[in-house]
Order: sequence, then C-alpha cells, then structure tokens
Amino acid sequence: MLGYTFLAICVASWVSALIDPAPVLPKFGKPLDNLTVSVGREATFTCIVEDLGLYKVAWLRVDTQTILTIASHVITKNHRIAVTHSGHRTWSLHIRDTRETDRGWYMCQVNTDPMSSNTGFLDVVVPPDILDYPTSTDMVVREGSNVTLRCAATGTPTPSVTWRREDGNPIIEFSTQEATSTEGPELEIVRVSRRHMGPYLCIASNGVPPTVSKRIVLIVHFPPKVWVGKQLEGVYEGQTVTLACRSEAFPRPITYWTRPTNEIIINDDNFKIASSSTGYESVIELTIRAVQLQDLGTFKCVAKNALGETEDTIKLNRIAAPSTTHRPNARRESKKSWISEFNQEKKAAATKGSSMGNGIDNGDGDEELTDFDSATSSSTTSRHLLVLGMATIITILGGRFPT
Ligand SMILES: *[C@@H]1O[C@H](CO)[C@@H](O)[C@H](O)[C@H]1NC(C)=O
Ligand SMILES: *[C@@H]1O[C@H](CO)[C@@H](O)[C@H](O)[C@H]1NC(C)=O
Repeated sequence: MLGYTFLAICVASWVSALIDPAPVLPKFGKPLDNLTVSVGREATFTCIVEDLGLYKVAWLRVDTQTILTIASHVITKNHRIAVTHSGHRTWSLHIRDTRETDRGWYMCQVNTDPMSSNTGFLDVVVPPDILDYPTSTDMVVREGSNVTLRCAATGTPTPSVTWRREDGNPIIEFSTQEATSTEGPELEIVRVSRRHMGPYLCIASNGVPPTVSKRIVLIVHFPPKVWVGKQLEGVYEGQTVTLACRSEAFPRPITYWTRPTNEIIINDDNFKIASSSTGYESVIELTIRAVQLQDLGTFKCVAKNALGETEDTIKLNRIAAPSTTHRPNARRESKKSWISEFNQEKKAAATKGSSMGNGIDNGDGDEELTDFDSATSSSTTSRHLLVLGMATIITILGGRFPT
C-alpha cells in the first residue's frame, strides 16, 4: 500500500501523545468486512479490537491518505462521516449518503508501535438507468430499410442490455435466426419488414435493483396489398354470397368494395359491408343478399393509404339454381330477420376464426352445378360450413334442410 508510509507519519503525532501504554498489546477480533452499498445508502465498517487499553482506534481512507476519525472524534471535514463505539471493543465508521467517489479501501488502525491495522473495501454500486439520449425514441421507417434501435444504459457495474418484443414474439434479426431476446446496446434490423412492427423493450440490468426498461415502438410503413382469393365465382339467382377481401397496409388503409358499375358499396338492405383489422391486417367482407341478375359482374376491392393504392377483383357469373331449391326472391322478407341472421353469422365466424376465402353458400345442389368452378365451390362450402356453423347456413338458406 502506497499510503502506508504517509499514514505512519500521520499517526506519529498521536502515537507520541500516548502515556504509558498497557503492557498487553491490542489485537483485532476479526477482519473488516468488505461492503457493497447502493449509492445514497449508508455504509458502516465495524472494527473489533480486543484489549485496546489506552491505545486509540483511528479510521483512515487508504486511497486518499486521509485520517477520518481518531477515537470518538471526527477529524475530516466530510460531514457524511461519523464514528460510534460500543465500549472500547467495537468501533464503527459510518459513511452516510454514499457517493461513487467513496468507493475504495478503508483502514481501522490502532496506534501501537509499529501501528497495527485492518483494511476493508467499500464498493458503491449504482442501479441501472437508461439515458433519454442517445436512446432511440419511437421510430417510423419504410419497409425494406435498415433500422438500428439504441439503448444507452448507465450504472455501476456496467449494465447489460437485453432487447425483447413486448408481445413476446421472436426478435427477427436475420431470416435464419430467431430468438426472443438479444443482448447489446444496439438492435440492428436489416431489411425491416411489417412483421417487425410493434413495441420493443430495452432492459438494462446490472444486479443492482431495480432493473429498468424503455419501450420503443417501431412503426413500419408500406403500401397496401389486397387479396380477394378467386377471380371468378358462380352464383345462382337468389343466393346469398359473402366475398372477403383481405388487405395488408400501414398506415391503415381505406378499403372499400365497388359494384360492377364502379360505385362504392355502402350498407343497404341487400349489401352488407363488415370490416375488421388487427395491426396491419384487415378484412372487409361484402355480403350480397339474394343475388339478382343485375348484381352480377366484376366486384372490386380497393385499399389505399398514403404510400399507394391497389385493388383485386372477383367476377360473379350466373349458374343454374339447384333445381329443388328454387324459391321466390328473398329480398321481400323482413329486414329485421336479415340483420339478426347477419349478426349471428358474424358471431359464429368470430368464434370459429376468420375465413379468408370466399364464403359462398352453394347449398346442397352439387349435382346441379355445371360451372367449372363447382369443385372449388363445394370445398369452399364445406369450409364455410365449419366457419359459420350449420344452424346459420340453414337459416340463411331459408330452412331447406330438415331441422
Ligand atoms: C475483502 O476483499 C479483499 C480483496 O478483494 C480480500 O482479500 C479480503 O479477504 C476480503 N475480506 C473479507 C472479510 O472478505
Ligand atoms: C442494409 O444492410 C444490408 C446488410 O448490412 C446491406 O447489404 C444493405 O445495402 C443495407 N440497405 C440499405 C438500404 O442501407
């Protein structure tokens, strides 16, 4: 220890002040504990000396070569330092409101000749903190660009930084590598995709509570894409048809269906529009109740946002009605029952998951379908039955099945 010579000189003055020390030399009861405290807390070193007699106990700071206390007197001008004792045996040095600069070696010294001492280390740890700058704030990026999220953490010891997604999904760094978390102050996402959109958490920890985190939302902008599923669908007069259009876009797009006449379809007695969206995905469903000849033609689903506009189409063409099931125009029936059927259908669809295909109710007239589309239509039907539930189909078709 560099300071020992200096310390020896410092204590020389009070060594000489002693009057007739007792013949039994003092000895230390046990080594000083090393201490670890969080910044701001109090640190207390305790020195146990057996047979102190007329000798005195001093506390010193080794690194700065300073005498802090002698016996029960505080020598340093540092007001955060105090000394207490219990009889002559137990001597405690108190360092209140610890600062990082208090970190270092402390010595309990007895003024024997030569002096005897014990040292202990004080470690002052600092819980992690995340700096506002240069930590990233919420970001808006174009799909396909590279993005780096930054998290600047401080603390002692140096904190480690972990990134995860708030929703628990994997952090996709590279297409081949998936992990739910990644370490390091920077999270680089190469060729960002829509799947990267959402809140991220940067978590800083260094073993000193509390662990802290910051939430950074990554917004990925991209132009719309829409899918109707099929290009052609055969329907018979009087049939109720649901066309589903799925879209992906962010910012959320405006989506709508247009009739063959290019008019935008709005809800009325015969046409129902229902839309729902989650994140960047949305579905807009068009239900045409009791299709009439003048309804047939090409329907268009359009989605647009600030980055672009796109459309997909489906053509409804006429097929023969199932022979046994021809019935009068259902549009004359009450609007009320239509609405309740529609709601029932929505509820059933919601509980069974969403079908992205075209929900076409072809009924039971498979043998009547001569259109090339019949094979796919019947498979669509069975899927649709699963989605909507048998009861709803029977209701929509006007009780053609025995119940
Ligand atoms: C305190 O730490 C020092 C060095 O790290 C070590 O030599 C000493 O044994 C420690 N003291 C106690 C009481 O653990
Ligand atoms: C994104 O990073 C990849 C890999 O580092 C690089 O090849 C590509 O050019 C970068 N793209 C842009 C738009 O900077």
